[in-house]
Amino acid sequence: MSFFGSKKCPSGFSSSSTAEEVTQGVDGSALTAIVTGGSSGIGIETVRALALRGVHVIMAVRNVAAGNKVKEDILKKNPEANIDVMELDLSYMASVRKFASDFIARGLPLNILINNAGIMGTPFTLSKDNIELQFATNHIGLLHVYFLY
Ligand SMILES: NC(=O)c1ccc[n+]([C@@H]2O[C@H](COP(=O)([O-])OP(=O)(O)OC[C@H]3O[C@@H](n4cnc5c(N)ncnc54)[C@H](OP(=O)(O)O)[C@@H]3O)[C@@H](O)[C@H]2O)c1
Repeated sequence: MSFFGSKKCPSGFSSSSTAEEVTQGVDGSALTAIVTGGSSGIGIETVRALALRGVHVIMAVRNVAAGNKVKEDILKKNPEANIDVMELDLSYMASVRKFASDFIARGLPLNILINNAGIMGTPFTLSKDNIELQFATNHIGLLHVYFLY
């Protein structure tokens, strides 16, 4: 049993259900998803599971080298995976605008936007745009990705 318990929701899934279980039988081959922060933690599993279901996944990451390493690792196990890595620093508006502009230029649909990237409990710090870093990353940056698209 997970920390949160294993009581099932009406969907039949619980907090202990895996991404593979939840997406079992889903054909995502016509879909494009952006996953922010796809180069670590929950983001890696999200990218892996979506790609397994045929979704074209855009990993929006601030560390492109780390993103490419994750992509390579997924491709080793799933050579069919359709994954692209694009640079995005959510705490820096110029980077957010460039990401949105580059994504739009590719002419892809945006069917799924997974706002996974985030920080919490950081000491008071200002972003390059002089906004408190956690607010800039978790709120302002994410909202801009959505609205610029
Ligand atoms: N794990 C939990 O138990 C838990 C619980 C509640 C909420 N959450 C939230 O769920 C999300 C994923 O959690 P996790 O445990 O997988 O966290 P994680 O391993 O720390 O991953 C966070 C991701 O966000 C990225 N990120 C941070 N600042 C960014 C920025 N300015 N621009 C672009 N990307 C940025 C990180 O990139 P870098 O690798 O470059 O740092 C990393 O890929 C987070 O938003 C977290 O706050 C997690």
